Amino acid sequence: MGLFVTFEGGEGSGKTTLINRLHDEMVALNFPAIKTREPGGNKISEQIRNIILDVENNEMDYRTEALLYAASRRQHLTEVILPALKQGKTVLCDRFLDSSLAYQGYARGLGIDNVYRINLYATEGIMPDITIYIDVSPQEGLNRISNSHREVDRLDLENSTFHAKVHEGYLKLAEMFPERIKVIDGARSLDEIYLNIKTIVLAQLRKG
Ligand SMILES: Nc1ncnc2c1ncn2[C@@H]1O[C@H](COP(=O)(O)OP(=O)(O)OP(=O)(O)O)[C@@H](O)[C@H]1O
Ligand SMILES: [Mg+2]
Repeated sequence: MGLFVTFEGGEGSGKTTLINRLHDEMVALNFPAIKTREPGGNKISEQIRNIILDVENNEMDYRTEALLYAASRRQHLTEVILPALKQGKTVLCDRFLDSSLAYQGYARGLGIDNVYRINLYATEGIMPDITIYIDVSPQEGLNRISNSHREVDRLDLENSTFHAKVHEGYLKLAEMFPERIKVIDGARSLDEIYLNIKTIVLAQLRKG
């Protein structure tokens, strides 16, 4: 099995930028690797995600939201992630289970344990080997996004209390899973953060 690496962090923390860079460098170094993000470009997960992120869907119940994310994750796992891992590839995945634990479990108040349980059904216990958590203040992340041209979705429109809770949730998860979750100081320059992450991932790959 290949190495399963997930990237987590609030809006605008730098996940996509860093994954793209690491993927490009790994490919250049001849490490077999794929990059993907939930919903992973597969048809069913995309359709589910459109329902979740639709700015018109204000009446969505929080448990419905959590179940839809778990369903979307399941399809992405079986269609994209597992086949790549079985081919021995490193999978760099932009958001995974911890996003649900931080957003739905902690910030929405459903409970980390409850959301973990419904996801366990979806993932059959498959967990990332390492999780890179890019830690930046919610305000800094949102500032970065407003300076870029990314489209605003339903979760971005949540108030600052919600984003602060997400941040708190991630820090709690990092305490709960200290072996798996690497907390990366995301307030630094992109180059510094990138070097930090690359060192961690390549060291893990060499360990086998
Ligand atoms: N350490 C950094 N310093 C300065 N700017 C950064 C840093 N990291 C990312 N950025 C910039 O912030 C913006 C958001 O980055 P990116 O899209 O990679 O974040 P993300 O975590 O994928 O966000 P999202 O949650 O929206 O998917 C980009 O314009 C990126 O260039
Ligand atoms: Mg992104």
